[in-house]
Amino acid sequence: MKIGSLRVFGYARTKMTDEELRNMISRTLTCRVDKREDCEQKMNNFLGRCFYQAGQYSSEEHFAELDTKLKEKEGGKSSNRLFYLSIPPNIFVDVVRCASLRASSATGWTRVIVEKPFGRDSESSAELTKCLKQYLTEEQIFRVRQYLEGQVTSKESAFAPIDHYLGKELVENLSVLRFSNRVFEPLWSRDYIRNVQLIFSEDFGTEGRGGYFDNYGIIRDIMQNHLLQILTLFAMETPVSLDAEDIRNEKVKVLRSMKTLQLEDVTLGQYKGFSKGGKLYPGYTDDPTVPKDSITPTFAAAALFINNARWDGVPFLMKAGKALHTKRAEIRVQFRHVPGNLYKRNFGTDLDKATNELVLRVQPDEAIYLKINNKVPGLGMRLDRSDLNLLYKARYPREIPDAYERLLLDAIEGERRLFIRSDELDAAWALFSPMLKELEEKRIVPELYPYGSRGPVGAHYLAAKHDVRWGDLSGDDS
Ligand code: BG6
Repeated sequence: MKIGSLRVFGYARTKMTDEELRNMISRTLTCRVDKREDCEQKMNNFLGRCFYQAGQYSSEEHFAELDTKLKEKEGGKSSNRLFYLSIPPNIFVDVVRCASLRASSATGWTRVIVEKPFGRDSESSAELTKCLKQYLTEEQIFRVRQYLEGQVTSKESAFAPIDHYLGKELVENLSVLRFSNRVFEPLWSRDYIRNVQLIFSEDFGTEGRGGYFDNYGIIRDIMQNHLLQILTLFAMETPVSLDAEDIRNEKVKVLRSMKTLQLEDVTLGQYKGFSKGGKLYPGYTDDPTVPKDSITPTFAAAALFINNARWDGVPFLMKAGKALHTKRAEIRVQFRHVPGNLYKRNFGTDLDKATNELVLRVQPDEAIYLKINNKVPGLGMRLDRSDLNLLYKARYPREIPDAYERLLLDAIEGERRLFIRSDELDAAWALFSPMLKELEEKRIVPELYPYGSRGPVGAHYLAAKHDVRWGDLSGDDS
């Protein structure tokens, strides 16, 4: 996309000048230039296109003022407007109402992107959809339908929640890996794969976000969206084409084939304070924005199953946690043991040590590697584990775009692949909602784990129940 007539407007309650907004942006702005370009000039060009308007979220009058400022900068030219709502969900409806009534484009399309969390469960998500639709005029719905290129079904909503994990390079590459390499797709089933692990860990707590987090917890924050989206892409059948609708049709089929989660399929944790080397790492409930008696999980592990011909009986294990020992997001595929392995004795009694594993490291240090067994060079017959390793920074030294860069560009260009369709959203909530409700009704207390640790031991019991060991079986990666 050419920067041409692009303008970026900030809108929030805080009073700020355009200049102050530009200073704020410039502190985090990075610049990617080709040889002929001057970075400083490019940054200044961009910053000169950023403006700010202060206003209340529920004031139509203030949105009308925003509209005036937008028009002034648009200089009478035909324009499209994209509203990106990075706000708490309880004000989505007000903002959509004001924006659609007072600040939508009169000459082009108007699109609205909403960030998750989109509701807390099936009911609140459906209610939110209903309320938002109430405030979108026919004309706007038409515009949004235009955006959706006329392929809207009655299920399609006039706004689209995004999942930024779908914009991550490695997640995008998942389908390429599967569908454009003859060597992987034939192995992609219960016949060869023992289990699949979707792991998200952060080495920091909810610092500063406790107010939001306490109302949602790690299952809603990470599992029901980011990890589940990766799972559906991983497990779906070959789509008819790369068209967004074809891909999303296949993802929905996976969700609808899945077993609804029960309490016994999950285990929970919450981090507690820990002191190390004279430094005190605060526990979750030490956060002043979190109630002292909070039982909100900051860690969860879950076992999910897809009851279809391809995946019947294969555990898909998810693990997500804050304040753990490392920051990492990865997909691990553990393959079945070699039947009648000729080299069995080289692995002692632990055949898991011989298991092939395919790892897609989403972040940090993006990589795809396959753990294989091979002979150590020499006269003897000693076997060793090695990695066939595609390390992105070695193969592609160019910086990898941030997930949001891709998402915003796609939204502007009308590419819908990375947006969650409403039937997808409903199916995702339907899997998790009954279990979440039961957790809350029964007030299930999470197991405490120290800040910076590997998380609660309950996660290992859950995995063992399904004959799975978390992470690297050879112990090289941890
Ligand atoms: C967000 C969650 O969606 O993703 C956060 O709300 C989490 O809790 C973040 O920290 C992680 O995103 P990333 O891209 O930094 O892995």
